[in-house]
Amino acid sequence: MFGRKKIGIKTEKEIELMRESCRLLSEVHYELGQFVRPGISTADIDELGEKLIRQKGGIPNFLNYEGYPASICVSVNEEVVHGIPTRNRILQEGDIVSLDAGLIYKGYHSDAARTYGVGEISPEASRLIEVTRQSFFEGIKFARAGHHLYEIGGAIDDYVTPFGYGIVEDLCGHGIGTHLHEEPMIPNYRVRKKGPVLKPGMTLAVEPMINLGTWEVEWLDDGWTVVTSDGEYSAHYENTILITDSEPEILTLHEEERRYDV
Ligand code: MF3
Ligand code: CO
Repeated sequence: MFGRKKIGIKTEKEIELMRESCRLLSEVHYELGQFVRPGISTADIDELGEKLIRQKGGIPNFLNYEGYPASICVSVNEEVVHGIPTRNRILQEGDIVSLDAGLIYKGYHSDAARTYGVGEISPEASRLIEVTRQSFFEGIKFARAGHHLYEIGGAIDDYVTPFGYGIVEDLCGHGIGTHLHEEPMIPNYRVRKKGPVLKPGMTLAVEPMINLGTWEVEWLDDGWTVVTSDGEYSAHYENTILITDSEPEILTLHEEERRYDV
């Protein structure tokens, strides 16, 4: 998991393609966010997501990835990630739903996730979503050239743990580029090692998965859906970022989302 394989540095030309891939994905996410409401099925979200990805000239990178059967991972309530969309799962007022989506554009992958409330949700659920989102921003304060990779997870941990939430340890963020998953693995919690030094031109998917209760998770029999062991809600927030000479560039943030930036 904490391998020593090389972390790729993207050329300026590749970075342009990453930016474009990520911008298209940010639009897909934004439109999906607006579509979320009580009464729709998780398959409706997948169907719209795939349509939007293709309309924009992208290819869904999750579809058939190691056999995953859909374009958008839709995970409801206690489902952490990799929920499989289905006609039978109808979103209800008070649910929270995590949408994880990615696409390939001119050979370059993008990956991002958001958790939304369905209609009116409890203050508890809404705080979980907000803390999960903020933990990403706390983490990437350290996503700068010269810093060490595992400082990101350390900062996420420092921010999240005082809330009493559990940080999922079984899944991590990752490098991204011509493949969906590249070196390095990026833990969302504090580890004892410092990790490799960050350099300009690295593109990373940073994706904290935060549980209301225990950090422990299980896999359902479908082989994909990850759920919390205690059945409590879980939230997910992910962006593809670029390491630069100064602040990281958040490539999958939609224009409309930038307004609410930290
Ligand atoms: N964003 C997810 C991740 O980084 C991608 C899911 S792959 C899929 O793990 F096959 F589940 F779609
Ligand atoms: Co990812």
